[in-house]
Amino acid sequence: MSPNVVSASPHVPVLLAEVVAALAPAPGETMVDATFGAGGYSRALLAAGASVIAFDRDPDAVATGEALAAENPAFRIVHADFSRLGEAGAVDGVTMDIGVSSMQLDQAERGFSFGQDGPLDMRMSQDGPTAADFVNEADEETIADVLYHYGEERQSRRVARAIVAARPLTRTAQLAHVVRRALGHKPHEKKDPATRSFQAIRIHVNRELGELADGLAAAERALKPGGRLAVVTFHSLEDRVVKRFLRERSGSEPSGSRHLPQAMATRAPSFEGVGRAIKAGEAELAANPRSRSATLRTATRTAASAWDDAGTTSGLKQGISA
Ligand SMILES: C[S@@+](CC[C@H](N)C(=O)[O-])C[C@H]1O[C@@H](n2cnc3c(N)ncnc32)[C@H](O)[C@@H]1O
Repeated sequence: MSPNVVSASPHVPVLLAEVVAALAPAPGETMVDATFGAGGYSRALLAAGASVIAFDRDPDAVATGEALAAENPAFRIVHADFSRLGEAGAVDGVTMDIGVSSMQLDQAERGFSFGQDGPLDMRMSQDGPTAADFVNEADEETIADVLYHYGEERQSRRVARAIVAARPLTRTAQLAHVVRRALGHKPHEKKDPATRSFQAIRIHVNRELGELADGLAAAERALKPGGRLAVVTFHSLEDRVVKRFLRERSGSEPSGSRHLPQAMATRAPSFEGVGRAIKAGEAELAANPRSRSATLRTATRTAASAWDDAGTTSGLKQGISA
């Protein structure tokens, strides 16, 4: 597919004012926008006088970023996973807006949506194995594990059995139908029963939780002392990864800390000023319903050296491989 610079449905940035306030960009500073998307955060940081190095794994988003870079020498876009943001060097701020963009969701041919029929794709990077490759090739137990861990689907085994029986699956509408039939229609259920399975398969195909854990560790290495981190997530699995990372790195005890190795518990905190979770206010909720599930977490880098990520983030990483 050729990259689309102009999207039919531009992404409305979520918690933009709160992210900019947390990053406090100043002229002469360098900020990393780890998830460029349609560039809402990058443009606001540039407007505040900062230079911006942005990342995105989606060639369509990168094409939009290249158009912005051609206009503004203070901006650069890198076509890479944000786990590589350490390559940006020492920076004053890092922001991540995790998940899919409206452009990705709304284009049926990207295969993220069960509301519109499209090829069973779901790859943000438009590269590597697709959702169809996964559901058609993985064994039933692996599919069930993915649905359970990343979709919190309690009937994961039943759904996995139905998927395997219906193979080959090539379209989003086909997968949605198989999942709904396996779970039965419950009229009181507000949410489409296919939501959980689609979320799970998307997280797996894009290695989203592993990328998030690696991206946080990379941000820790890249941020200068006093540098700011602002991370927006869209569901509890992601928020848990961010919350646990910041609790560990700021030295406040996570709930499972009895099990932390002693060496970790005595490390000098690499983050401080960890704020409470920030949610969208009423005006934003009314203007952009997508902001309902967004959670922002913020922190400031200390002068302590970055924790050795080998081992310390391992508990946060995805443990499933197909
Ligand atoms: C929610 S959108 C960001 C929207 C952006 N803040 C804006 O205002 O337009 C998330 C973007 O991050 C990208 N993305 C998600 N995970 C990524 C990863 N691990 N590495 C690089 N880009 C990623 C997606 O391709 C998508 O374009």
